[in-house]
Amino acid sequence: MSVRRPRPPHAELVGSAASADTERIDAPAKAAGTARYAYEQPVDDPVYLHPIVSAVAKGTITGFDTSRAEQTHGVLLVMTHENAPRLRVKTSGDLWVLQSAKVRHRGQFIGAVVAQTPQAARCAAESVEVEYREEAADLDFSFDRPDVYVPRRVNGMLRGRSSHGDVDAAFAASAHQVAGTYETSAHYHNPIEPHPVIAVWHSGRRWAPSATRLTLFEANQGAFPYHLSLLPPLLGMLPGQLRIVSPYVGGSFGSKLFPHPHLVLAALAAKQLKDRPVKCELTRRQMFRTVGYRPQSHQTVRLGADADGRLTAVDHQSWAPNSKTRRFIEQTVDATRMMYAATTRRTVHHAVDLDIAPATFMRAPGEFGGMFALETAMDELAERIGLDPIELRVRNEPDFDPETGKPFSTRNLVRCLREGAQQFGWSSRTPPGEHRDGEWLIGLGVASATYPNQHFMPSRARITCSGDRYSVALQGADPGTGARTVLTQLAAEALGVPEAAVDVVLGETGLPLAMLAGGSAGTYEWGNAIAAAAAKLRRRHGADAPSGSSAAAFGFAPRGSRRRSRHAFGAHFAQVRVSRATGEVRVDRMLGVYGAGRIVNARTARSQLIGGMTMGVSSALHEETYFDTRFGHVANGDLAGYHIAAHADINDIEAVWIDEFDEWFGPSGAKGIGEIGIVGVPAAIGNAIYNAAGVRLRDIPFTPDKVIVELENRAAATTAGISGG
Ligand code: MOS
Repeated sequence: MSVRRPRPPHAELVGSAASADTERIDAPAKAAGTARYAYEQPVDDPVYLHPIVSAVAKGTITGFDTSRAEQTHGVLLVMTHENAPRLRVKTSGDLWVLQSAKVRHRGQFIGAVVAQTPQAARCAAESVEVEYREEAADLDFSFDRPDVYVPRRVNGMLRGRSSHGDVDAAFAASAHQVAGTYETSAHYHNPIEPHPVIAVWHSGRRWAPSATRLTLFEANQGAFPYHLSLLPPLLGMLPGQLRIVSPYVGGSFGSKLFPHPHLVLAALAAKQLKDRPVKCELTRRQMFRTVGYRPQSHQTVRLGADADGRLTAVDHQSWAPNSKTRRFIEQTVDATRMMYAATTRRTVHHAVDLDIAPATFMRAPGEFGGMFALETAMDELAERIGLDPIELRVRNEPDFDPETGKPFSTRNLVRCLREGAQQFGWSSRTPPGEHRDGEWLIGLGVASATYPNQHFMPSRARITCSGDRYSVALQGADPGTGARTVLTQLAAEALGVPEAAVDVVLGETGLPLAMLAGGSAGTYEWGNAIAAAAAKLRRRHGADAPSGSSAAAFGFAPRGSRRRSRHAFGAHFAQVRVSRATGEVRVDRMLGVYGAGRIVNARTARSQLIGGMTMGVSSALHEETYFDTRFGHVANGDLAGYHIAAHADINDIEAVWIDEFDEWFGPSGAKGIGEIGIVGVPAAIGNAIYNAAGVRLRDIPFTPDKVIVELENRAAATTAGISGG
C-alpha cells in the first residue's frame, strides 16, 4: 500500500474555497421517517430490557428479592450479578457490569429484567427488592478538601500543570489586577434520541475469527477507537466478531462517544437468551446516571496587566470532581495556555476523586468551562483599565503560540472581533446601567472563542466505482451534523464528479477504520482520507475509473503540520436585557463570527454553529444540576427539573465566518466547527449582563435569584456612596 503524504497547498484537490449550500442529503428520508435509527432496525422476535439501578451510592448488595419480577407476565429473564455471564477483560470500570455485588455509584446498573414488552420489563424491574450493606460514600465536591490533587495528565494527554516565569511576582508588580472565582454547573447532554441498543447474539458460529458473534444496533459517534478497543476484550471476542451498526443518530454532543454500560447489559442478556434480539432504550432519568455528563468546575483566574493593558501575569486554575469508577478530568485551563500573549503564566488542573458516576465528553469539554472563566476575567480587566474589551484582546494577540512557541496555522481572532463589532453595532454600546427600556437594562458583551485541532490518528476511506457512481465508505458517523452531506461534497470535489454520483456509507464496523465523530475533527480528518483515496483511484485508473475499481487510503495531516499550532477561533457577541424587577435575563440577539477554515457547506455549518450558540445560551441561563450530596443522585435528573433553552429563549441568533482556508488541516481547508459555537458564549452573556446592569456574575447559570441579589447589593452600595461596578 503506497501512502503519499499530501503537501500543501492542496489547491488541486479543492474546487473553490467558497462554501456550497447543499441541503442535507438524508433530509427527505429523515422527514419521511424512512431513515432507520438504531431502535427501529428490523429484527425478528425482539424482547425488551429494563435495567435495575442501585439506590445507594456505595456498598455491597446482600440480597435480591426477584419473586414478583419473576411472576410478572411476559418476563423471560431476571439478570443480576448472581446469574449474569462473566465478562473477560476489565477494559473500563463502568463497563464491568453485573460482575460483583459491589456498588460504586448511585444509579449504577445492578441488574436487568427482560420481558416480552417494554412495559412488563419496566414494571418487573421496579418490583425487584434489593438489600444492601451500605457504606459511607464520598460525594462532596469542594476545592478546599485536603485530598485535592494535581493530575500529571488530564484528558487529551495534556499536562495537568504548566508554568512560565514567576507569575506571583509579576502579578504583584502589575499596574492593573483582577482576581475572581468562577463556577460552572454539571451539564447533561440530553440528545433528542435517548441511548438505544438492540443486541443480537449469534450463537453457533463461535470460533471463526471473522464470524460475527454479536451485533449491536446502537446510536454512537463512531465505533472506532473506543467501542472497538473496549468492548471485544470485555466480551471475550475478537474485534472482527463484534458488529456495530449506527446508521442515523438523533443527536449526541459527546454523550455517544464512549460505549456506555447499557450496551454491556444488553449484550449479556442477549448472550443469556440466545437468538432473541434484546432491545433497550434508556429513560431520561437513567441518562442522568449512566451515560456521562460534563463535570462541574470551580476555577480561579488572576490577571495582571501593565499600564497599557498588556498581560504580565495569567494564573488560571481549575478544580473538578472525578469518578473513582472511571477517570475523566477535563483540560479546563488548557485554552488559556495559547489564548493570549502574557509574559508569565500558570495553569493548573486539580481533581477530587469521589463515589460518583463517571463523567464524559460534552461539547467543547474543557474549553467550554475554561473560556467562561478566562473571558469573563478579560472583561473585568478591560473594565478595570478602562479599555474597550475588544481592544484589550487585540493588544494581547500573540505572534505565536505562547505555550509551544509554534506559529499558528491560521489565527484570525482579531478579524473575528473586528468584523463582529462592525456587524453587531458594538459602537452603540453604552456604559453599564445607561441603556434602559422600562424595567429592562440593556447591554452588549463579547467573548473570544477557540477550539483546538484534534488529530488522534489517521482515518481511512475506500472509494469504489460502480457504473458511473462512486461509493465512499468509512466508519465514522453523522450524529445529525450533516457529515454525510459534507463528505459527499468533498468526495465529489476530489473525484471531479457531480455530488449526485456519490454515495457515502458510514456508521458501521467493517468499513475502513476512520475515527469517530468527535473533537470537531470529522470534516478534515475524513476529508483527508477521502482526498487520499480519490487521488489513489485516479493515479491507478485515470480520470475514467472502470466499474468495479476501488482504492482505499489513509488520510494524513499535511507534512509539517506538527510544527504549527492549529486552532479555530471566533468571537461571540450578545445583547441581553436584565429586568430590574425580577432579575430575569433575556438574550435579545447573538452573533458568532468564526475563523474556522474553509466552510464546506454554509447550511449545515450555520446550523452547527447556531446550535452550539443555543447550547451556550442554555448553559448560561438555564442548565443547572442539583446533586444531592447525601445520596449521590441528581435531584433534578429529568427534563422537568433540568431546564434547557426553549424556542422562546432564542431570538435573533446568527453565525457568520470570515473567508479562511487552512492548508495545515488538510486538503479540505476546513478546521472544526462542531464545538467552537458553545465556547465563550456564557462569558459573552455574563459580560453583557455587566454592561446592562453593572453587576458581575461569575457562576453559571445566571438565574434570576443570583442576578437579583447582585442588583440589590449594587443598589445598596450605590446608596452608601460606594461606586458600583
Ligand atoms: Mo465532542 S464532546 O468531541 O462530541
